[in-house]
Parts: sequence; C-alpha cells; structure tokens
Amino acid sequence: MTHARIAGIGSYLPEKVLSNKDLEKMMDTSDEWIRERTGIKRRHIAADDETTGSMALEAARRAIEDAGASLDEIDLIVLGTATPDKVFPSTACIVQRQLGIKGCPAFDVHAACSGFLYGFDLANRYIQTGGARKAVVIGSETLSRITNWEDRGTAVLFGDGAGAVVLEASDEPGVMSTHIHADGEYEELLHVRQGVSIGYDITRKGEAFIEMQGNAVFRRAVATFDKIARETIEDLDGHIDDIDWFVPHQANMRIIQAAAKKLGLPMERVIATVDEHANTSGASIPLALDLAVKEGRIKRGDTLLFAAFGAGFTWGSAMLKY
Ligand code: ACO
Repeated sequence: MTHARIAGIGSYLPEKVLSNKDLEKMMDTSDEWIRERTGIKRRHIAADDETTGSMALEAARRAIEDAGASLDEIDLIVLGTATPDKVFPSTACIVQRQLGIKGCPAFDVHAACSGFLYGFDLANRYIQTGGARKAVVIGSETLSRITNWEDRGTAVLFGDGAGAVVLEASDEPGVMSTHIHADGEYEELLHVRQGVSIGYDITRKGEAFIEMQGNAVFRRAVATFDKIARETIEDLDGHIDDIDWFVPHQANMRIIQAAAKKLGLPMERVIATVDEHANTSGASIPLALDLAVKEGRIKRGDTLLFAAFGAGFTWGSAMLKY
C-alpha cells in the first residue's frame, strides 16, 4: 500500500508585530488580561501588500525547498483558508501560478480553523489512492482583515500567517490515520455575518467581522479536542503514551492546556506556539509544527498527533510518524 509522509515543512509570518502593549493603546484591554485568559503575547499582521496568497506562496516555497523537491514533481496543491484573496479564482490557483507550476489540480478548502487538516486529509487520500505523489498542503490566513478592532472580545485573539507541508508517496507511513468531521448546528457561535451570496457590503461597518460567543466555543473546543484525539488513537489500537508530540490548533493556551489535561498528556509533550502568533486559524498547525521542528523539539521518527477545531463547527485530526 502507498502511504504519505511529510517530506518538508515551511512557514511564513509577516514582519509587522502587534504586541499586547500595542493593543492597550487601541482598546480597553491589558497585557495581563490577554496573557492570563489566552496565553497570547503578540500576533503578526499582514502588511497592506501582503495577502493570504503571498504568505501561502512563501510558506509553500520553503516547504518545497525543505523537501528537496523540484517544482515539476508537485502534482497537487490544496490550500486551507477562510480568507481567500479573491472570490475566484481560488487562492491555490494564484499560488500555483506564482510557483510556476502548470496543470496539476489546485483548490482551496474552506473549513475555518480546521482548513489545514481538511486539506491534509484530502492530500493523504489522493496519495494513498495513486492520485498524487507529491502534494503541497497549505494553511494561510489574513484574519486581521476580518477582525473588528473595536471588539476587544475577539480582536486580541487572532493573527496572520501561513504554514505548509509537502506530503510525498512512501512505502512506509508517514501518515497513519486522519479523520475530519463537521456539524453545522453551531453556525452562529462563531461566524462572519456577511458573505458573497448574502450580499457582501464593506460599508455595513461591523458586520463583515469575526463574531464569537467565546465561552460556548471554549467549552465545545475542549470537549472536541478530547473526542477527536481519542478517536484517532483508538482507530490505530494505540494509546496516548504512543504520542511523542501533540500539535493542536493554536487557538488559546487555556484551550490547549484543558485539552491536554483531559487527554492525560503532560504539557512537556504539547507544542504551544500561540503566545508568539495568536490564533492564525487554518495556518496554525503547520506554523506550530515548523517552529517546533526548527527549535529541534520535534525530530524525524517522532509520533505526532494533530487536532483542530473551528467554525462550522468543523474538526479533524491526524496521527503520523514525522
Ligand atoms: N480585555 C479586557 N477585558 C476583556 C477583554 C479584553 N480583551 N475581552 C473581554 N473582556 C472582559 C469581558 O467584557 C468581561 O467583563 P465583565 O465581566 O465586566 O462582563 C470579562 O472580561 C470576562 O469575559 P469572558 O468572555 O467571560 O472571558 P473569558 O474568560 O471567557 O475569556 C475568551 C474570553 C478569551 C474569548 C474565551 O472565552 C475563549 O478563549 N474562548 C474561546 C474562543 C477562541 O479561542 N476562539 C477562537 C476561534 S475557535 C477556535 O479557533 C477553536
């Protein structure tokens, strides 16, 4: 059987940094409140000329270089984003063109904070069934463009960035198991009220922004991280002790800590980078992975568990040998 393995990783964070102290000057909040409730210290904000596509391009280039792959070997591009550059074409097609690749399928996946894992699941299945041999899976977001900077309840939580992996066909896993799910019941708990078919109108100030019922989302996120992690481990007849590193979606330090505690995982085996870049939605897992690999914490051969949860609600997981 053909398996998929991660051959390369890359990420990109915009140069501009917005610290909690900077936010203190913009709204009624404090560094202490933000750190205590979320663990976030700073977030990166895209410059005016930076887009989801331009950040995705940079992360993808770095992942392809890390994999030692040539551009003509790439035969699938999947991009998880909730903040695409244009209504169409897809941001994946924009990135494909800028990479100088022609012909291979390229498409966006919209699953909010689970977007990267939805793309990862798809690319894994493409590779397993012979539809691709080298796929680039990207998560990229410019959440700053849909952040209401007058709402302290959400503005402190989000940031911009991109992360990418190259998945390649291999005789050995690699990726052992992936799961994705959705339940549209909870649309209003976490959403952007406006969209194209509803009649997007940027002049209707305050309506094209992230709106969230924080407490309800918090409870649901913790319960779901636990459920999805157990589903994945049990699918492989495994045990939580098999996991060297838990790499969760970087939403909020308290969600990450509560999920780890419920799973019985010590924080020493959890990758938490949310302090550095806040919640970057679909970009957060590959960003956290890249930072942890660069720091030398995650090493080749380690067993990793990814888990994500986001608007929809959507959720997903993957267990793999890095
Ligand atoms: N600075 C200072 N005070 C604030 C701020 C702020 N930035 N935001 C809210 N407050 C105030 C509130 O107004 C409230 O004041 P009050 O008691 O006078 O009414 C008080 O702080 C407590 O507010 P809560 O909403 O109860 O605070 P809570 O401890 O629940 O923390 C938070 C809020 C951080 C949003 C939390 O609910 C949370 O983390 N929720 C999960 C949301 C999340 O991470 N979503 C990301 C998208 S989903 C995903 O990625 C998984």
